[in-house]
Amino acid sequence: PRVLLLFGGRSSEHSVSCVTAASVMKAIDRQKYDVIPVGITKTGQWTLVDSDPGEWTLASGRRPEVEAGASQLHLTDGEAGDEISVAKESRLISGANGEIKDLGRVDVVFPLLHGPFGEDGTLQGMLELADLPYVGAGVASSAIGMDKHYMKVVFEAAGFQIGPYAVITDKQWRRDPAAALEGANGLELPLFVKPARAGSSMGITRVDDREQLREAVEAAREHDPKVVIEQGIIGREIECGVLEGRGEQLPRASFPGEISVSNEGHTFYDFEAKYVDDSAALSCPADLPEEAQQAIRRLAVAAFDAVGAEGLARVDFFYTSEGQWVINEINTMPGFTPNSMYPQMWAKTGIEYSELIDELIALALE
Ligand code: DAL
Ligand code: MG
Repeated sequence: PRVLLLFGGRSSEHSVSCVTAASVMKAIDRQKYDVIPVGITKTGQWTLVDSDPGEWTLASGRRPEVEAGASQLHLTDGEAGDEISVAKESRLISGANGEIKDLGRVDVVFPLLHGPFGEDGTLQGMLELADLPYVGAGVASSAIGMDKHYMKVVFEAAGFQIGPYAVITDKQWRRDPAAALEGANGLELPLFVKPARAGSSMGITRVDDREQLREAVEAAREHDPKVVIEQGIIGREIECGVLEGRGEQLPRASFPGEISVSNEGHTFYDFEAKYVDDSAALSCPADLPEEAQQAIRRLAVAAFDAVGAEGLARVDFFYTSEGQWVINEINTMPGFTPNSMYPQMWAKTGIEYSELIDELIALALE
């Protein structure tokens, strides 16, 4: 099959997506798949990428970025002739420099995009319109999974335990920040202030003193005008990968993995700990009694079903000292970098990286 790999994109997780794409491009079986790597720049231009993905890394402060090149592909932007059409039987056409790129038939799209305009249902809607099969969750499920407010609403309705939280909408903040912050009065410190729709801990601040709250909301608003304030949950951070089953088979969960972050320089599992330094360690399977392992794997699959996910997801929980599972979030396009938990947990469970890619593409083509 001809696989269109999409990466980069307009969200603040652009660089993470490039690293995810680099790992997938390295691991994908070229005998089986004809790969078309298309990067999306930070401003939303689509471009055929032919640079060496071996260079795309987050090490030593590097932030790989898709650059608009000579073979830049535009979505319609008002200028005659600049259009891109993505459909099974049609072409990707570049209007830049009058050059036309014929990418031929596309069998399946693999959106290796994290964050808004990639993981949030917008791209999925475009692919639905074009009648193109794609890997991962559909429109509504992606949108819910992207939004830390709506996912809590759905999880709570499905019977999950969630932590106390407050939401500040853009309008509330712009009208009266002091009044908007009142929603957080009932929450106990520490608080975690998060952009509602972002990932990789971008824009998140841990607040140990209410004096810092306003600044933390402003920082989150750099990423999303809607902000979620969560009461910190005391507990172990434990995650599971979920992979949909083919045909009649139900989704299954990987062994649970536990994240531990060394305290030096980190007050939580932040961006640097996730991708840059070696301060986050994964133990998989997590050191949990058999019963608790079964419980979290069941809950992870239930969370996948609660938002109607497809293909893959990673579900993150806190395990409290009282033995309760508090759901933190679901990610419908979890990181796939070599440091990322999703592929590592599946490898421990017996599904290697390239097999995972095969499985995901096969599911999209079903
Ligand atoms: N949002 C990042 C990529 C993750 O969940 O892994
Ligand atoms: Mg996330």
